[in-house]
Amino acid sequence: MSRLCSPNRPCTLLLLAFLQLAFVLFLYRRSLSGSFASSLYEEDRDGRWDYSKTHDVYTNLSFVTPSPDRETLPECPVESPLLVGPLTISFQKIPVMSKIARKNPYVQAGGRYTPPHCKAQYKTAILVPHRNREPHLRHLLYYLHPFLQRQQLQYAIYVIHQTGNRTFNRAKLLNVGVREALKDEDWDCLFLHDVDLIPENDHNLYVCNEKYPKHVSSAMNKFKYRLPYRMYFGGVSALTPEQYLRINGFPNTYWGWGGEDDDISARFDMVVKVSKSWRSDGMNSIDYNLLQREELPLYTNITVDFGSSPNVRAKVN
Ligand code: BGC
Repeated sequence: MSRLCSPNRPCTLLLLAFLQLAFVLFLYRRSLSGSFASSLYEEDRDGRWDYSKTHDVYTNLSFVTPSPDRETLPECPVESPLLVGPLTISFQKIPVMSKIARKNPYVQAGGRYTPPHCKAQYKTAILVPHRNREPHLRHLLYYLHPFLQRQQLQYAIYVIHQTGNRTFNRAKLLNVGVREALKDEDWDCLFLHDVDLIPENDHNLYVCNEKYPKHVSSAMNKFKYRLPYRMYFGGVSALTPEQYLRINGFPNTYWGWGGEDDDISARFDMVVKVSKSWRSDGMNSIDYNLLQREELPLYTNITVDFGSSPNVRAKVN
């Protein structure tokens, strides 16, 4: 019998082999997923992306030029030819709003976009709850606009801003966003989007699954590209308006951080414990004071006031 390691035969070779294996496994895992929500879904057809080769998020957009005749536009193809895969993301410099607007000349007031060269097959509204996160918002707009344009979607970005001194209520802001966005357009899909998450791969299409609510940010760098727990539905998720309304949206009573996404996730599986009041607390009971609705160059800003105190935290466990 021989031992793998002994004073005469040190473990160096074994260690090297182990490190090599670990590295290969790491690359393989990395190829399956990307920071926040790359291509874990139907788009990951061949099962691998090379994240060591990333592309500028504005790549290919210069090829998009308006068609002279808007009446006879061809349908945009099911798969956009503009997609590039993994994107280069950097948070070193906070982009200036005017620069983002210059880089996105076809984005119209309110952060709306319709492809100028083909008829979009899909309409997505992006809803971003917000308070005091200006740098995050600027990064998001810098990356999300070109990302969505390369997918050849018709889209609009709504930022729902909570004013006043009451505790932040992400859930209620999203309900407000859905209500306001549906006044504008018959959207095919609603993307509920945290302000601090940036997609890393443009094959992660911002479209809904007609059959099921879709969790989009299933691979986030913060969670080492794994789900933190099986039912996790936070970060970025996508529902059709019909799906959102069928579950009565989010409860309006989640003041403070966390819990609202777990609640909405539990509603898809009623066996799991869920807030009992879901039928009466949600889209059908929302009440808010809309202070302002502005069509800014890069997004529609909806400012709401939920009043002041009490700062109750109502996480359902
Ligand atoms: C919270 C969720 C949150 C998740 C991940 C959970 O404990 O209830 O709202 O998304 O942690 O941070």
